[in-house]
Amino acid sequence: MTDRLIIFDTTLRDGEQSPGASMNRDEKVRIAKVLERMRVDVIEAGFPIASAGDFEAVKAVAEAVTESTVCALARATEKDIDRAAEAIRPASSGRIHTFIATSPIHMQEKLRMQPDEVVERAVWAVKRARQYTDDVEFSPEDAGRSEPDFLCRVLEAVIDAGAKTVNIPDTVGYNVPQQFGDLIASLIERVPNSDKAVFSVHCHNDLGLAVANSLSAVANGARQVECTINGLGERAGNASLEEIVMAVRTRQDIFACDTGIDTTQIVPASRLVSNITGFPVQPNKAIVGANAFAHESGIHQDGVIKKRETYEIMRAEDVGWSANRMVLGKHSGRHAFRARLAELGIEFESEEGLNSAFARFKDLADKKHEIFDEDLQALVTEEGLEQANESLKLVALKVCSQTGEIPLADVTVSVDGQERHSSAEGGGPVDAAFRAIEAVVQSGSQLQLYSVSNITSGTDSQGEVTVRLEKGGRIVNGHGADTDIVVASAKAYIHALSKLVAPAQKAHPQRGQAI
Ligand code: KIV
Ligand code: ZN
Repeated sequence: MTDRLIIFDTTLRDGEQSPGASMNRDEKVRIAKVLERMRVDVIEAGFPIASAGDFEAVKAVAEAVTESTVCALARATEKDIDRAAEAIRPASSGRIHTFIATSPIHMQEKLRMQPDEVVERAVWAVKRARQYTDDVEFSPEDAGRSEPDFLCRVLEAVIDAGAKTVNIPDTVGYNVPQQFGDLIASLIERVPNSDKAVFSVHCHNDLGLAVANSLSAVANGARQVECTINGLGERAGNASLEEIVMAVRTRQDIFACDTGIDTTQIVPASRLVSNITGFPVQPNKAIVGANAFAHESGIHQDGVIKKRETYEIMRAEDVGWSANRMVLGKHSGRHAFRARLAELGIEFESEEGLNSAFARFKDLADKKHEIFDEDLQALVTEEGLEQANESLKLVALKVCSQTGEIPLADVTVSVDGQERHSSAEGGGPVDAAFRAIEAVVQSGSQLQLYSVSNITSGTDSQGEVTVRLEKGGRIVNGHGADTDIVVASAKAYIHALSKLVAPAQKAHPQRGQAI
């Protein structure tokens, strides 16, 4: 009999800790609905104590999702745990994930606590969380650099206190596969009550080993993996969900377990996360990269035509790759529009929201004959940005660019409801537009990244632009989509600037933590 491998997705929590990847409530709900459709077992929706916005987002996910367990993160403090409990209260199935660091360096330098105090606090936190839900997970943060004997002591104590899942994080991505697998096997063997809890792993990718470490742990008895779509996450990211799920599915000869994931939802989820966060997926990324199933060399193409398995170990359609499928066109009505969005898991709270998105769809259909699912996703993201209460909005843009002439941009930006105008020359039309916008906003920020990709194929495709800005150590991403890439660029730039001028900085769960 094959065991179930629990998939715990933390795109909305650890993924969001990636600099510039913050998501608003509605964006989190959209991603959560896709994760639910993918049959992810547990969705970690956020860190409710971080800010009012984070609390509201976790609560909204808890209200919207019925099939997956919704989890909230909490440090081992009363305030954190109580806030997490309140946020997940509406969930059909809710989990509190509490943690405290157990490595010598974290205990001494960050927490300034003695090991005995850490054990006591961990037990207290699990008991407090159990007052709210039976489903409590505990993580000894930086387990990958903790003393194994001390880990055994902590784990035994928290399982006794009622933790149903114990998660072993390689917080700084320091471990290597053989060693990490051995650690998991020895913890399961040595902790006397290990049969009372599910052993989970949470690996970071600082050495590019997050997936390998997680799989080694699974081969050694771990039955939950914490991972993210596209491997998004703090620093170099977390283990990528799609790689874990497909490795386990493809190598059933090695793994004595399988997930309940509907793999056909993987590519749509990857696109949605990329679209919302503005983090592009590299073309050679396993499973979800544009080239993951493309065969360049003639020998490979010949082999694949004769027998697909000569060079393909997975089927593209099994992970949700399908040729861009035209779903709607210029003559499609409101009903068809609403129905297709519902199939994509997108629902509008009000008729006005739907009407406004439908008007945007009609505009797009005038410029582009065939509208694909990817266009609809981008359109809804754009609609969300438009509705967001942002202080900066693009009102108008005119750009002149011709051979032999210096490009010139005229821009009108609404700043807190007041229209301001400026013009600037630049090295190209995008540069001119950015200079004109900066002349209005005067942010003093530095452009760190500018990238353009096409949402679908064809020259009438919408261009999707990501802009990353930095100011005083704060990094924000903005994105925009339009059939005109200069307009898409201006929208992305203004979106990033809006985030930069907004005051809210939310608390980070693992940094500057005082217990
Ligand atoms: O990386 C880590 O240790 C974490 C914990 C909060 C589980 O994200
Ligand atoms: Zn982490």
